[in-house]
Amino acid sequence: MRIDILTLFPEMFLGPFSASIVKRAIERKKAEIIIHNIRDYSTFKHKSVDDAPYGGGAGMVMRIEPIAILIEKLKRERSYDEVIFLCPDGELLEQKTVNDLSLNQNIILLCGHYKGVDERVREHLITKEISIGSYVLSGGELAAAVLSDAIVRLLPGVLNDETSALNDSFQDGLLSPPVYTRPAEFNGWKVPDVLLSGDEKKIENWKEEKALERTKNRRPDLLK
Ligand code: ADE
Repeated sequence: MRIDILTLFPEMFLGPFSASIVKRAIERKKAEIIIHNIRDYSTFKHKSVDDAPYGGGAGMVMRIEPIAILIEKLKRERSYDEVIFLCPDGELLEQKTVNDLSLNQNIILLCGHYKGVDERVREHLITKEISIGSYVLSGGELAAAVLSDAIVRLLPGVLNDETSALNDSFQDGLLSPPVYTRPAEFNGWKVPDVLLSGDEKKIENWKEEKALERTKNRRPDLLK
């Protein structure tokens, strides 16, 4: 899968994709993540990418021109399944959306900044708008990194059996049960006996019970 990220701050992506699972996915050529600087596509003298809002008001608005030039250039090179705008007023991101997006070949992620982007970008160039939570970030970059990470770990051949995404919280509508590792006792705090019993059926039942209990206590909305 190929993810093209359009941003005014390419340096914000130096960290998130250079460690752990996403880094490995890129090295194994399961995912390709290309960062584009929107500023490179400004035809204005000083490479400006924003302007004051029509009708007045505080803050600057990202101009449509460099964004449109960049998206059109990418679309001439290959076809895209989605052009996604990360914004606080988009559809709230859920695991189901991540699962669906992971089936795509090519997607574009557009990161907004300042007071937002010219509404005509959203009307004519964007196919989907996603928010990663009901709070405002200073731009879409961290949201694009979160979304990319969530997608890339689901791509075939990225996780091995042990870390399989099938057991993730949310995949079966439940939170994951608690996990423990050695030592069996620390400071007098014990690992539940059942996990040391070797009885697979009992262990499986315990995990299901704990997943349900945890979901009831922490995220009852998931059970509705
Ligand atoms: N940009 C600013 N805030 C955001 C959020 N919560 N989700 C996605 N993009 C954003």
